[in-house]
Amino acid sequence: MKTICLIVGSPRKNKSSNFLIDKAIEGIREVSADFKLNKIQIIDYSITPCNGCDACLRPPNDCPLTENDDIKKIEELILNTDALLIAAPNYFGSVSSQIKTFIDRSRPWKMKNYLLKDVIFAPLAATGLRNGGEGVIADLINFALIHGMIVVGNAIGSPVLEGNIPITSLQKHKLKEFIGKDEEDELGGKIAKDLGKRVAELLKKFEK
Ligand SMILES: Cc1cc2nc3c(=O)[nH]c(=O)nc-3n(C[C@H](O)[C@H](O)[C@H](O)COP(=O)(O)O)c2cc1C
Repeated sequence: MKTICLIVGSPRKNKSSNFLIDKAIEGIREVSADFKLNKIQIIDYSITPCNGCDACLRPPNDCPLTENDDIKKIEELILNTDALLIAAPNYFGSVSSQIKTFIDRSRPWKMKNYLLKDVIFAPLAATGLRNGGEGVIADLINFALIHGMIVVGNAIGSPVLEGNIPITSLQKHKLKEFIGKDEEDELGGKIAKDLGKRVAELLKKFEK
């Protein structure tokens, strides 16, 4: 059975990043009920920031910090996944510190000879304003490319009316109209859902 890991990269468990991940799950489930899904709330894990000791450069390429934090728990899920989706909030044009810490601590998985090679990767971003999410997406794409993952965007919905990268905003389409309580960024959600579908369809294609 193919496995898909989905990471909610916000310290807030039930906000926009979570909305994007849930939409992606909806899309995946529309393609098939057969995928094993591991949804990870990054804030549930205590991850110590990398201190640059470079121990991971030398065999056995382990990180000494793993003894005292939760990175091994995430590792068990990530290293056996066929696809990985990360939704990160936009903090000053970059990912949240929780996701940056996770990215830095993933270095041993590269140094152990590209353990994440060929994993399908899809980036998603939650932002306050309509602009700025691109920096978050760039951070996530760089992470994926440096690990040798296969980066995909949405190519299912309307090529004119939808974007290829899910970036939600707290602002609605008329820029000054902020989203109210219980409202959603419908377009961002639709793109996230279609991206989930795309990832699922690709995995099925590779199964053949
Ligand atoms: C420290 C911090 C910095 C932020 N910087 C930006 C920013 O530069 N541009 C922006 O559009 N939104 C910014 N935001 C707003 C968040 O991107 C927005 O609230 C987003 O929905 C957070 O994701 P979440 O709802 O999943 O927590 C910032 C929020 C915080 C807490």
